[in-house]
Amino acid sequence: MVTDAAIKQWSILPHGGELINKVATGVWRKELLEKAQKMPVLTISDWSLSDLELIAIGGFSPLTGFMGKRDYESVLKTMRLANGIVWSIPITLPVREEDANRFEIGSTIALKGADGIIYGVLQLTEKFFYDKELEAKYVYGTTDIAHPGVKKLYENGDVYLAGPIVLLNRPSHAPFEQYFLDPMETRALFKELGWKTVVGFQTRNPVHRAHEYIQKSALEMVDGLLLNPLVGETKSDDISAAIRMESYQVLLEKYYPKDRVRLVIYPAAMRYAGPREAILHALVRKNYGCTHFIVGRDHAGVGDYYGTYDAQRIFDQFGREEIGIEILKFEHSFYCKKCGQMATAKTCPHTKEDHIHLSGTKVREMLRNGEKPPAEFSRPEVAEVLIRGLKA
Ligand code: ADX
Repeated sequence: MVTDAAIKQWSILPHGGELINKVATGVWRKELLEKAQKMPVLTISDWSLSDLELIAIGGFSPLTGFMGKRDYESVLKTMRLANGIVWSIPITLPVREEDANRFEIGSTIALKGADGIIYGVLQLTEKFFYDKELEAKYVYGTTDIAHPGVKKLYENGDVYLAGPIVLLNRPSHAPFEQYFLDPMETRALFKELGWKTVVGFQTRNPVHRAHEYIQKSALEMVDGLLLNPLVGETKSDDISAAIRMESYQVLLEKYYPKDRVRLVIYPAAMRYAGPREAILHALVRKNYGCTHFIVGRDHAGVGDYYGTYDAQRIFDQFGREEIGIEILKFEHSFYCKKCGQMATAKTCPHTKEDHIHLSGTKVREMLRNGEKPPAEFSRPEVAEVLIRGLKA
């Protein structure tokens, strides 16, 4: 049997040293659920619900709750928590001022989802107004409301509620339940599989040949690949998680060695914060037990807000041991007709005319028209799933 101690000994240290677990179970859960019926209630968004869950299951270790003002300001200005630990994106609970006024500091609030289920409780230690423009500048590097992360921020309530949380009910991940694992469980899985080194791969897109190339290049160096697609909120023109999940399964079945890859969902909302989100993505994958993390071109980027390699360069601001997970940086990859294979500027001597380049927008347009992108860009089996999914 794989014991907790054995997993700990085997695994990479979580961020901050301890894997947080704020998921109530047994009598504790039962009693707290009963008490929660009488608590003041706040209905939270799906985005906040996914943050609540990720804090509780340890994905956001060392966070134990929604950030207070000191951590929040420190994260904005220095990309560190107030105690100095690296953290790049505020994890906060926004509410309207009228709602904030309903709650007393020191009270415990029941957090309800839009479906009426009480998912958790927040012990309210602080509430504070915040400057949206400042947050937008620091986190997204822009105040342009055409940026999806900025737009979301500007739509949010004006007050942040802060304090430690407990999760009482698990949010549903249907229809992907079988692909959901807690960080503790992925750690146990890696131990069972005998994977000492594991590369984590973040994606919010179908896996095209360029993604496959960098994943497989990484797999040449490590024991296993955790394909960890983000399935929380994304912008409306991104391909839905349901369609993507089907495409990943087809691809893994046909083109990946079964014993070297695991598909597990990452139940977070997409911020599109480019470089800062790359750091968050890496730290979270460390918590899931990955030892390596891929950062390619314009990681977590959108539009032209970030430079192609900004999300790689941002890691230079920190010591390797402070990040604690090895960042595998890949150049822009493409298929080169003259090389007859996938390549990057590092490995291919030919010119742009020999390379197959398609923008995300162009590819989505082709797929929506029922047209398959070239096989050098996307595996035909993947394109088929995407075309069928987009038609439905
Ligand atoms: S992201 O928003 O989740 O980063 P995407 O799913 O497209 O978007 O990318 C997943 C990972 O693959 C990121 O690390 C990204 O930098 C990398 N990537 C995507 N396309 C390429 C490419 N053509 N060449 C190299 N890296 C890429």
